[in-house]
Amino acid sequence: LYLGLDLGTSALKAVVIDEDQHVIASRDAAMTSSHPRPGWSEQPPADWIAAAEAVMEALRAELGARMADIAGIGLSGQMHGATLLAADDRVLAPCILWNDTRSAEQAARLDADPDFRAISGNIVFPGFTAPKLVWLKETDPALFARVARVLLPKDYLRLWLTGEHVSEMSDAAGTAWLDTGARDWSDRLLAASGMDRAQMPALVEGTAPSGGLRTELAARWGMRPGTVVAGGAGDNAASGVGLGTVAPGDGFVSLGTSGVLFAACDAYTPRPETAVHSFCHALPGRWHQMGVMLSAASALAWFAGIAGATPARLIADLGEQVGPPSPVTFLPYLSGERTPHNDPGLRAGFHGVSAGTTREDMTRAVLDGVAFALKDNLDALQAAGTRPARLLAVGGGARSDLWLSIIAGVLGLAVDRPAAGAGGAAFGAARLGLIAAERADPATICTPPPVARRFEPDPGLSGACAAAQARFQRLRETTHPTPT
Ligand code: XUL
Repeated sequence: LYLGLDLGTSALKAVVIDEDQHVIASRDAAMTSSHPRPGWSEQPPADWIAAAEAVMEALRAELGARMADIAGIGLSGQMHGATLLAADDRVLAPCILWNDTRSAEQAARLDADPDFRAISGNIVFPGFTAPKLVWLKETDPALFARVARVLLPKDYLRLWLTGEHVSEMSDAAGTAWLDTGARDWSDRLLAASGMDRAQMPALVEGTAPSGGLRTELAARWGMRPGTVVAGGAGDNAASGVGLGTVAPGDGFVSLGTSGVLFAACDAYTPRPETAVHSFCHALPGRWHQMGVMLSAASALAWFAGIAGATPARLIADLGEQVGPPSPVTFLPYLSGERTPHNDPGLRAGFHGVSAGTTREDMTRAVLDGVAFALKDNLDALQAAGTRPARLLAVGGGARSDLWLSIIAGVLGLAVDRPAAGAGGAAFGAARLGLIAAERADPATICTPPPVARRFEPDPGLSGACAAAQARFQRLRETTHPTPT
């Protein structure tokens, strides 16, 4: 058996698969983020450990003696977070998360140093790790001076599981400190942030072993001490592994808290000016590109909160027929935007609301708005040289037939929902655990999942869709002009 743990933003998920990659158990534990000031987003690392303990206890209760059959563990996690550790590995502050924009000014300054785009292959976005450390250096130099190590969220989980300070290429690529082509830390970029290599974890490939399960935890969960823990991956690359999105032409859309349009590449071809992210994939010698939206399913969750209903209720009220887009336009930039705008100051809004506007019009506008913003991401990916032939869909939002139909129509691509249990970041992490433990060939393991249902664009709606998309673009340009 193999265990995958995905430390997401809203939940920690665990999946156990067998030798044939069938899911035999899965559990999750919810987590919350706090937003102590506008634009801030934090989690105490102790919450991650508590969530991991909860899912592991639940798995032990379900699997009993079979826990000892787990031969490999893989880790996946929300990317970019800065977990700050003292010399004795004690946590110095709440983790500053990927969707925290407090370091926008520092990010812009680092990004103005041409070495960052040249070496890391990416814009230095405010959510990335490097500007967070520069922010800390400038706002709390005493605390900054105590930072002995910086770990990404899932790598902190690894430290707890194995006692090792290790990261892997896909997540490391989101720090702005990696030489993404060379797959190694860049001393130059670290120095430009007031950091050095001694503060960084060792690097392995996602498919390689990174350490073994600590004896104390193994005893507690009925597992074998030293069970191999694979390098693993950032959550998007882990989803790519889970969905078999590992070769050019393969792509997926993830409708989680963030929205991601992901395409695999077999070469490193960065195009930072498109605001597309170019990161290492979790497999050796592979890279990927992705467009990242900061609010996707979270935009619907936000509107559901306002409307006093659950997202599922709101979607159910729209019925099953796709129909034309809403007469209302929604810009989904609740937390600013990365691709393609690179603007932490962008904000969301409804436009075209009249006395006759219904809650259904507004819900549909949210679904449309996220789809239109995904189309901007598809165009950016194309400008960066990749265009997936079809998209698999994952994340909480992918449970909605209606939303996937809308997205297929707006993107002009077939969107496939994998069979239940297949795909997803925790499943991908379990695959990486399998590959590391068995020294298996990634190509034979990372196959696409069976498709439960395909959503195709409806040609009858393409005219209405294009008109609504043009309205969306005009509105964004008028309210938030592109800087010239
Ligand atoms: C990717 C990103 C998000 C997080 C969400 O660059 O910031 O997708 O990984 O967990």
